[in-house]
Amino acid sequence: MTATRPAPEGTRLGELWRILPEEATASGDGVLEIGGVAVTELAERFGTPLHVYDEAGLRRQIRRFVDGLRDRWPNSEVLFASKSLPAVGMYRIAQEEGLSVDIAGGGELQLALAAGVDPARLHFHGNAKTDAELRMALDAGIDTIIVDNDDELDRLERLLERPQRLLLRVIPGVEAKTHASQATGGVHSKFGLPLDQAERAIARMQTHPLMRFEGVHLHIGSQILDTAQFAEAVAKISTVGTFGTYDVGGGLGISYTYAEEAPSVESYLDAIVAAARAYLPADARLLIEPGRSIVARAGVTLYRITTVKRTGRTFVAVDGGLADQMDIALTQQRYEAIIADRLHEPWTETVQLVGRQCESGDLLVDGAPMPPARVGDLVVMAGTGAYAYTMSNNYNGALKPAIVFVGDGDARLVTRRETYDDLLATHAPALAGALV
Ligand SMILES: Cc1ncc(COP(=O)(O)O)c(C=O)c1O
Repeated sequence: MTATRPAPEGTRLGELWRILPEEATASGDGVLEIGGVAVTELAERFGTPLHVYDEAGLRRQIRRFVDGLRDRWPNSEVLFASKSLPAVGMYRIAQEEGLSVDIAGGGELQLALAAGVDPARLHFHGNAKTDAELRMALDAGIDTIIVDNDDELDRLERLLERPQRLLLRVIPGVEAKTHASQATGGVHSKFGLPLDQAERAIARMQTHPLMRFEGVHLHIGSQILDTAQFAEAVAKISTVGTFGTYDVGGGLGISYTYAEEAPSVESYLDAIVAAARAYLPADARLLIEPGRSIVARAGVTLYRITTVKRTGRTFVAVDGGLADQMDIALTQQRYEAIIADRLHEPWTETVQLVGRQCESGDLLVDGAPMPPARVGDLVVMAGTGAYAYTMSNNYNGALKPAIVFVGDGDARLVTRRETYDDLLATHAPALAGALV
């Protein structure tokens, strides 16, 4: 049967294709396929909950950023903000597609190195880097450390044994229009130094024999839908001074809901580069650090319905929840979900799609339209490719889901599901008395 993108009456499928992965289609009998693989097959082979990525769509999105920025500002670099999907398989794709990578801790450094990312393409962020992490990064020979504060400069003075490239993170004073937990550019941000403290920190770096101060960095937040805010940040950072490099961070939002309309990569790049032309030196190197906007749309989470309860409200519970979609509880972002193996049926019910963790806040979708749900149906949450796997945890002893990349009718496992042995591994020494 041929795959199509149907829009049956009584559903919102027509709108949903816009937020599902680029390579998502429906089989003739109404089963969602991603990269040519039916979700029924994926659930059978790999189990649920499962993070599924459309590899072709993901690579295409990376190229929109890399080619788009290079065309507009040739002296530039796109860094993948790896916190959005810190999986070895993803670091490998980033390297293959010509991205540099930003890491924010020793763990992400280890994952990137394990994936074979060239240390000369790594940039190290963080507002509370430890001596051990800085030493690890210096030993690995990473390209750039983005210095956050004076204590970090004290640490580097002690640790540096050879020249090291540095950027300084500054607070631009731009209040991003996003959820408070995702806004990082306002004057009271914990990240970076205020503009009026930057000069002194820069002078300190410029006079140190081993510190190679290259320029300044900012990041105003995440899931930002107004491109004018990125342009405003570029204007602000230009006031710090004239340098060789300006890293203007990540933060471009995506469309999560039927109604949301996120800017395209092209209009985002147009806004940033127009501001760069207006405010930055023409020969400066321009860096950006997208995370969410690279991986979010390409990824969905696949669940199986375990319980349907009608108590005046209809609760449809799946075999995952808060433990693998922490971002929903943190940011109250609305997502959309569908019953993915009955796409042709009209959506006649509006349900509370809930998870299995012991919190009433474990609400995946508040009012999800769908056909009458049945135990055993497959549910797909759209747009969960960023930060879901990142924040997955073991609440109620949940096992972190596996990640599969799909394309050309084939699926490959890039991160396996945790096992109960993994869950017990860190506790076992205590049983033997070693931790008491
Ligand atoms: C310093 C820095 N750069 C880039 C990003 C990526 O942001 P996003 O995933 O919204 O593009 C983040 C995430 O918060 C960040 O902290």
